[in-house]
Amino acid sequence: MIQVSHLTKSFNKQPPLWEDMNFEVPPHSVTAFTGHSGSGKSTLLNCIGALESPDSGSIRVFDMEVTNLNYRRARKYRRDYVGYLFQDYALIPDQSVYDNISLAAQPNRIFKSKALLGKVIEVLSQVGLAGYERRQVCELSGGEQQRVAIARLLVRPPKVVLADEPTGALDHDNSLRVINHLRELADGGACVVVATHSDMVAGSADQHIMVHTPGADSRS
Ligand SMILES: Nc1ncnc2c1ncn2[C@@H]1O[C@H](COP(=O)(O)OP(=O)(O)OP(=O)(O)O)[C@@H](O)[C@H]1O
Ligand SMILES: [Mg+2]
Repeated sequence: MIQVSHLTKSFNKQPPLWEDMNFEVPPHSVTAFTGHSGSGKSTLLNCIGALESPDSGSIRVFDMEVTNLNYRRARKYRRDYVGYLFQDYALIPDQSVYDNISLAAQPNRIFKSKALLGKVIEVLSQVGLAGYERRQVCELSGGEQQRVAIARLLVRPPKVVLADEPTGALDHDNSLRVINHLRELADGGACVVVATHSDMVAGSADQHIMVHTPGADSRS
């Protein structure tokens, strides 16, 4: 469960981007952040990912307060809990699909190398990319790269998935694939949060949070 309470954020003494944000993201569910460009959707995702600090308020993730972690604890929190999905895929372009996925699996050395290869092959087939493990990421299409990024999440499913416009660069069919995979991650127990301008992505979510500058109830 992600519990956001009385959260306020401003940059450089500007008026707050948003203030007194209150919402919960239960496990097994998908929440969409919507709102105009510049309203602070990415900033809110980054606060949940402990990449940014809010000015005030609380974010509890599975009962851990994540707004005031020191550098080391924030890194550990991200490693143990958080999976990110970005619009630009955030893969290492000149490395193979296998290298990109196995890197994500290995911080805890949970797999021995043979088991790891088996696992990579399994998640690639889950995202419809069977046989792609030796391909260079930079040779793949955008839709294929985003599927590699999803395979990177599936290899070690995170408890919290933060997706920042994950379909921003994709066509309809590839967007639908991403939506379905986000749903699978939620079905597996994750708290999934997606910032999006896409009506299709927002429409597929269980809950919508309108991110906007100070105002009324943000729940819908
Ligand atoms: N590190 C920073 N320092 C100063 N200002 C920042 C910083 N990060 C973001 N901002 C500002 O905060 C505002 C919100 O940015 P953010 O990226 O969160 O918006 P967004 O809702 O994700 O927009 P988009 O839909 O275009 O992705 C913007 O005006 C941006 O310029
Ligand atoms: Mg953004």
